[in-house]
Order: sequence, then C-alpha cells, then structure tokens
Amino acid sequence: MKRIGMGLIGPGFVAAHHIDAVRRLGDVDVVAIAGSSQESAERKARELKIDRAYGDFHALIADPDIQVIHNTTPNYLHLPVTLAALAAGKHVISDKPLALNPQEGRILRDAAVAAKVAHVVTFNYRGNPLVQQARAMIAKGQNGDVSFVHGHYLQDWMTDPNVYSWRSDPAKGGATSALGDIGSHWCDLAEHISGLKIVSVLADLTTVIPERYSTGASGEAFSAKRTGDKVPVTVQSEDLGSVLLHFDGGAKGCFSVGQVLPGHKNDLVLEVNGKLSSLKWKQEQQNELWIGHYDQANSLLAKDPSLVLPEAQRYTHLPGGHQESWADAFCNLMRDAYEWIHAGGAPEARPSMLPTFEDGYRSTCLVDAMLRSHVAGNVWQRVEFFPEAN
Ligand SMILES: NC(=O)c1ccc[n+]([C@@H]2O[C@H](COP(=O)([O-])OP(=O)(O)OC[C@H]3O[C@@H](n4cnc5c(N)ncnc54)[C@H](O)[C@@H]3O)[C@@H](O)[C@H]2O)c1
Repeated sequence: MKRIGMGLIGPGFVAAHHIDAVRRLGDVDVVAIAGSSQESAERKARELKIDRAYGDFHALIADPDIQVIHNTTPNYLHLPVTLAALAAGKHVISDKPLALNPQEGRILRDAAVAAKVAHVVTFNYRGNPLVQQARAMIAKGQNGDVSFVHGHYLQDWMTDPNVYSWRSDPAKGGATSALGDIGSHWCDLAEHISGLKIVSVLADLTTVIPERYSTGASGEAFSAKRTGDKVPVTVQSEDLGSVLLHFDGGAKGCFSVGQVLPGHKNDLVLEVNGKLSSLKWKQEQQNELWIGHYDQANSLLAKDPSLVLPEAQRYTHLPGGHQESWADAFCNLMRDAYEWIHAGGAPEARPSMLPTFEDGYRSTCLVDAMLRSHVAGNVWQRVEFFPEAN
C-alpha cells in the first residue's frame, strides 16, 4: 500500500481532529505541522506527537515528504496558505469557510481545478451515515418532491462577552461570524441532502453582544478563560440570524443561526418535507433519523448498517446500537478525501459525497448574498455564483 505524507498548517482547535482522523486511516503519515512561530509549532508538535515543526508555512509546503496540505489556519490565512500549496502542486484539504469572500473563493476554486489536484473543504457533517441515508432516500424519490427545507444551527459558546478571538475580528474572521462559521455548514447540508440549490435569500441579522473583551492575546477558539487586562472591542459581525430561502425548482426554506443562545451546544437540526414524507436529522442525536408520515405512524430509523441504504453503508462502521459520533463522521470525510488523493485527484475519481472547493466557493457566495440582503434592508437577493467552465 502506497503511503501518503500530510502536513498541517494552523495547529489549533480543529487541527487535532484532522490529525486524529488521518491517523485512523492507517496509510497516511503525519509528517509535520506549521504554526504561527517556531516555538508554538514545536510545542504543538510535542503535544500531537509529530516529529517535524515549522515556524513558517512556506517551509512546510516545500517539504518533499508532504503531498497533502491540511489548512486549519484562521479564515484570513486560507487564501495565501491554500494558494501557495496549490502552486506547489500539493493536494489541499481546507477547513471551512474556504475563503473570506466570493472573490477569494473563486480564485481558490479556479486555482485548484487548474492545479489538477484533489481539493476538499471540510463540510464534515456530510460524513454522517444518516445524512447519507437521507440524501439517498430523497434522491430515490422515496419522500416525493421536496417542498420545504428548514432548521437551525444554534450554539452558546460566545454567550460570555469575554470570549473574543480572531472569529470576531473582521480582518481575520471575515465580515460574517455565525453565518460563515456555522450557517455555512447548515446550508451545505441543506443542499447536499435535498439535492436542491439555494437561489435567493432574505436575511435578518443581529449582533446580540456588540461589545466583547479582548486580552490582546490571539486566543484560540472556544477559550474564554484568558488572563490579562481586558480591552473592550466593538463587534460588528452577527452572532444571531434568520434567513428565508428559495431553492431551484420552487421549494422554500428557512433557518436560524446563533452562537449566543444558552443551552445550545452544537444544535444543528435539518428537516426536509417532501410531498410523500418528511425526514429530520439532529446532530446532537445523530444516530437517529426521524421519518414523518401523513397516513401512518411516524418512525425513527436507528443507525444500523443492516438497515440503511447501500449509499450510506460505507459510512457506518459499528453495528446498530453502537453510537457513532462527530469524530467518526469527520474521519469518513477524510477517508473519501484520501481515496481521491490515492487516485491522483482525477475529477472522475472523486467520491460523490466529498465537498470540493466548488462547494466551498458556492458557500462564500451564499453567505455573501445573505450579507447583501441584510445590508439592503432585509430584501431578497439572488445568489451570484460563477459555475466552473468545462
Ligand atoms: N469543520 C469544522 O467543524 C470546524 C470546526 C472548528 C473550526 N473550523 C475551521 O478551522 C479553522 C481554524 O479554526 P480553529 O477553531 O481551529 O481556530 P484556532 O484559533 O483554534 O486555531 C488556529 C491555529 O492557527 C495558528 N496560526 C495562526 N497564524 C498562523 C500562521 N501564520 N501559520 C500557521 N499557523 C497559524 C494559530 O496559532 C492557531 O493555533 C477556521 O477556518 C474554522 O472556521 C472548522
């Protein structure tokens, strides 16, 4: 079995999960990481048990033992890091959002296609077996034509005003917070499961906590308990939002996002109503799929390899009753990504579940339309997306 060398740039919160996932594949060597300084990279390398550490991402990209770059840097570094990796002919797995805005997203999508390498963006909820089950059921017409797609993605980790990181800084996180950070996951999942594309949006956005407190240190995500003098910072990006959706073919939809809603940890819910039956998947109870009926009792499909459709079977690894989790779904995405990489990134070899830079670019266009809608006074805006020229 040919082994593949990977290197990761941006060793913070989500990086550990990238490394854990690729180690589980068995044929990937975690060669090196690059951090914001040599000292921090070496500290992280010790924690993550990785031999090589670089203080400059260009040096990692130039490492001849590395064929795949994982980009888990803060959002503003996605463009330069990913462009440099593509220019070196390396396969790239970028965490979401692909880029800060559609202009950057399109540059990266076009560069990835031109480089003829594998290009993946981690919309990792696609890796859940019951997400694939729902997608396959809808694609087979089991639920009838889709009329409504709705749900939410709610969290509470930014409820405390002392939580301040690059995510709340428009220069580093982008013009959006909740929409780009978690709304992007919800919209990708809505389109992936329903098989429909969002064509226009109407957004109503709010900043519930307009003043946060920074210690000046570049705190990693999800860490409120920092020491040092606190400096008030005015936050402009939304931490709460609701969006109405029009899909191609006429289906309607809506969703809400929020990161300041006490009690909601990682509360992603998506429901699709077809003309025959409905499906609902809740991330926090991800081993169940609710099936709603009009003329018979509703049911719950438990995640079980012997009960799901063939399209979902490759994403479930334990018998029924054995819970699978966020990390297992993340690993499923990496398994498909490395299958594509083993095939050299040839477009025809891409596993159909896998989200690419095309999807990442599309996501930046969706969020951009939502921001435009809000700024224009909560009016409908069309999603402007330039399809790849074939
Ligand atoms: N797929 C998911 O569910 C998911 C979950 C969390 C985060 N993310 C995404 O992953 C990315 C990182 O998020 P995070 O929560 O891990 O952030 P984080 O702040 O915890 O980690 C970012 C890391 O990048 C490092 N860094 C900064 N500048 C660098 C440079 N020049 N070179 C190398 N490293 C540098 C920081 O020191 C830090 O260690 C974001 O784009 C975020 O949206 C995705």
